[in-house]
Amino acid sequence: MIVLGIETSCDETAAAVVHRDAEGRGTILSDVVWSQIEAHAAFGGVVPEIAARAHVEALDRIIGTAMAEAGVGFRDLSGIAATAGPGLVGGLLVGLTTAKAIAAASGKPLLAVNHLAAHALTPRLVGELAFPYLMFLVSGGHTQILLVRDVGHYERWGTTIDDALGEAFDKTAKLLGLAYPGGPEVEKAARQGDAKRFDLPRPLIDRPSLDFSFAGLKTAVRLAAKGVAPLTDQDVADICAAFQGAVADVVRKKLTAALKRFSEEFPGWPIGFAAAGGVASNGVLRAVLTEVAEAAGARFLALPPKLCTDNGAMIAWAGAERLSRGESDSLDFAARARWPL
Ligand code: KG4
Ligand code: ZN
Repeated sequence: MIVLGIETSCDETAAAVVHRDAEGRGTILSDVVWSQIEAHAAFGGVVPEIAARAHVEALDRIIGTAMAEAGVGFRDLSGIAATAGPGLVGGLLVGLTTAKAIAAASGKPLLAVNHLAAHALTPRLVGELAFPYLMFLVSGGHTQILLVRDVGHYERWGTTIDDALGEAFDKTAKLLGLAYPGGPEVEKAARQGDAKRFDLPRPLIDRPSLDFSFAGLKTAVRLAAKGVAPLTDQDVADICAAFQGAVADVVRKKLTAALKRFSEEFPGWPIGFAAAGGVASNGVLRAVLTEVAEAAGARFLALPPKLCTDNGAMIAWAGAERLSRGESDSLDFAARARWPL
């Protein structure tokens, strides 16, 4: 089964071709991502109108490159998958409409893919991971602990009650005068920092629920920065290290609790555990996730950073997983800005 996947929900224009064999093993035949970061950097965040226009300009070329690199034509495809939500609706319309056009012209099935479901299923593209497994989804828009029961069956065990973790990284970076997107900048600065100089809060760490909160942490960063302004490079590095340390502590505690719950709900079942979303490419957090998995006797399946951030391969794979179960969508499927799992 060969599926083309199209991703346009935010500021990446991406297309990829993925193969899924009869045993359910995946191979990425091509994976092309064009990041619009430069177009948005001056604004310190993604501007929806600019994003939608940039998708229109780039998408045909990106799809052409993905098809050429995979060495396939539209007639070789088993299906065409595109992100249909959640995300910025202008961008979603560009990708979904293009997928519909290719599906209509080639007579192949359309798969309107949920972006979060695609992140949640990506670990199965790169490694053997049987259902059910636990997924930590951490991006600019989402922070969720998910039980992945099966394709199409997701249970949310925890989420953020305010800011997403990637958003907290981005806002912290902005407060400290670092470039957008902030996650990688904060991680880089933190390497030179002393995490103990500033004492930042660990929101909700002692609550039994698996929910997160990061708005208060961002406020604490603002106050810490104000207290030592004007900021030197060392001040910035120390605040970044303290921020990342606080985040790491919260993540360690909540994911340890989630893995415990998993082992209680599925006694004797091997604990599969994976993470995705841009924040999952953070080295400090990956080390924490590896550590909590080991302590719980779980296997942490670390995705390569390129598959953590938004890409077309994850959309193609989610489409292939659905197609292999006989599912497809009608050509009048509408894009959904909001589409919870
Ligand atoms: O999954 P993603 O590419 O896009 C969506 O939000 O769907 O995630 C982007 C987010 C941004 O907030 C970015 O700052 C964050 O992931 N991020 C990181 C790192 N790399 C990207 N956060 C922390 N550390 C990183 N190394
Ligand atoms: Zn994403």
